[in-house]
Amino acid sequence: MRAIVLHGSPRRGGNSDTIAASFVKGFKERGNVEIIDFVLNDMNIRPCQGCESCMTSQDHKCVIDDDMHQIYSVFEDADVVVWATPMYWGYMTAQMKIALDRMEALAMDPEKYWVGKEFVAILTYRHHYQSTVGFFERVQDYFRFKLNVLAVCTMDTESREDFHVSSKPEMLEEAYQLGIKLGSV
Ligand SMILES: Cc1cc2nc3c(=O)[nH]c(=O)nc-3n(C[C@H](O)[C@H](O)[C@H](O)COP(=O)(O)O)c2cc1C
Repeated sequence: MRAIVLHGSPRRGGNSDTIAASFVKGFKERGNVEIIDFVLNDMNIRPCQGCESCMTSQDHKCVIDDDMHQIYSVFEDADVVVWATPMYWGYMTAQMKIALDRMEALAMDPEKYWVGKEFVAILTYRHHYQSTVGFFERVQDYFRFKLNVLAVCTMDTESREDFHVSSKPEMLEEAYQLGIKLGSV
């Protein structure tokens, strides 16, 4: 079993990273698994240039020569893809969106890259996460991945103060249990 973890937050050890870590802990619990982490903020990934080479070329490769190819090279063999991102201005972070746009090169062959994979969307937020879930739900029929959502509010609604998810063990437990479940499929 291989899981790819895409870290979309610029804050290492922040909320989405911490929930992803609980998921990974559970995922590792049973059996022989491989985890490949990509900290998008530390990678050199250019935004899609809309050249459509990936659509029109025979091999559907992206012509931009950058770190995105590290992700492309392991994506096909991943059983699980974790998309861990805070909500920024109503959507995923720019770091995550740039990587997502570059997934266009893998969209040409759903059977090879998407069908049957377990997706885990880890979304941390103060007010709103539905737009990002809406994206995954909207493309799910076509790409036929299995969607699991861990959406975690990181703000106390009464005091309106932010807290770190590490102070909410029940939230970490849910991620851990999902990790166990997907790790033992
Ligand atoms: C620039 C910025 C924009 C944000 N925009 C939103 C937003 O639109 N909706 C929301 O619910 N939370 C928003 N937040 C709050 C974060 O999503 C939230 O604090 C999250 O838990 C941070 O996760 P992290 O620790 O993994 O970075 C924003 C935070 C920042 C820094």
